[in-house]
Amino acid sequence: MQNTIIMSIETSCDETAVAIIKNGQEILADVVASQIATHQKFGGVVPEVASRKHLELINVVIDQALRESGLNFRDLTHYAVTYGPGLVGALLVGVSTAKALAFAAEKPLIGVNHIEGHVYANFLTNNDIQFPLVCLIVSGGHTNLVKILDHGQYEFLGATRDDAAGEAFDKIARALGLGYPGGPQIEKLAREGDPQAVELPRAWLEEGSFDFSFSGLKSAVLNYLNQCHMKNIAVNKADVAASFQEAVLDVLVEKTMLAAQESQVKTVLLAGGVAANSFLRDKLKRRTQEVGIKLYYPPIKYCTDNAAMIGAAAHYKALRGEYADLDLNAVPNLKFG
Ligand code: KG4
Ligand code: ZN
Repeated sequence: MQNTIIMSIETSCDETAVAIIKNGQEILADVVASQIATHQKFGGVVPEVASRKHLELINVVIDQALRESGLNFRDLTHYAVTYGPGLVGALLVGVSTAKALAFAAEKPLIGVNHIEGHVYANFLTNNDIQFPLVCLIVSGGHTNLVKILDHGQYEFLGATRDDAAGEAFDKIARALGLGYPGGPQIEKLAREGDPQAVELPRAWLEEGSFDFSFSGLKSAVLNYLNQCHMKNIAVNKADVAASFQEAVLDVLVEKTMLAAQESQVKTVLLAGGVAANSFLRDKLKRRTQEVGIKLYYPPIKYCTDNAAMIGAAAHYKALRGEYADLDLNAVPNLKFG
């Protein structure tokens, strides 16, 4: 195949994002219009508001991406879009826009799973990643451990049975009155706290399981806060944030290391919004270095939602000829695994 120059669109949650990516790695344009400020006053994402904002922003963001790249529609080889998982109304804005563009330009359409997009943030920014590898994907909606044999070839090792890792961060942040999104706030506060101060459970589940569960931990933190409140004991929020974060990261890191060892891989990838957490990055870096495993994680701006990662994933789909038809629909609970 000749060069790919893909316009990719991501509207699954609260970022309206459009990128133009050449050959899976060269970022010709990368625009992310965040709605965080709009949703902050509600303490979380309001789906209906998100869809309306996407509608308002999508054409503006597309124009900006074209301007940034210095290209026009004729130069683009493919259109890619996140078609799930995510909020249905939000996804539909991206999906219908990408379909309209592909139809009008008579160019192929590529549907990308948002979670696979997160994995590809690593390939966007590194060109020496060796297969097979194990990837830990930790986002606001998903927690997955996946073995990847080659581009597009996945073996699913485990997933969360209840809350996603990022969701747990967001819920505890809310209980501590820290605002949305919670992950970065918990991380910041945890720097001043003692991770051993509050004793909290780790859900290892059955021996050898690569699944996760964070709801027990969440309940334990909420119980602790309630008890302090009832006994009129002042809560040290920094200690709670540090202890909670440590409990989540212990399980994430331990299971990732076990998965890597059991799968006998020499490469580990970290992906998704929670991969922006520097404690997680450092902890996994130390552990992988000890056993000679190479660890990759995307730069922070490509850990959270963006369209560049969707363009990177779409490049490899284009190489395989995996195109979508123009009846592509949004699939809010699209599975990865
Ligand atoms: O991948 P993402 O942007 O959206 C989803 O696909 O869900 O992930 C957002 C999640 C939120 O739950 C947010 O609190 C969490 O990633 N997050 C973090 C950090 N930055 C974002 N969690 C922990 N530490 C961070 N620094
Ligand atoms: Zn995401």
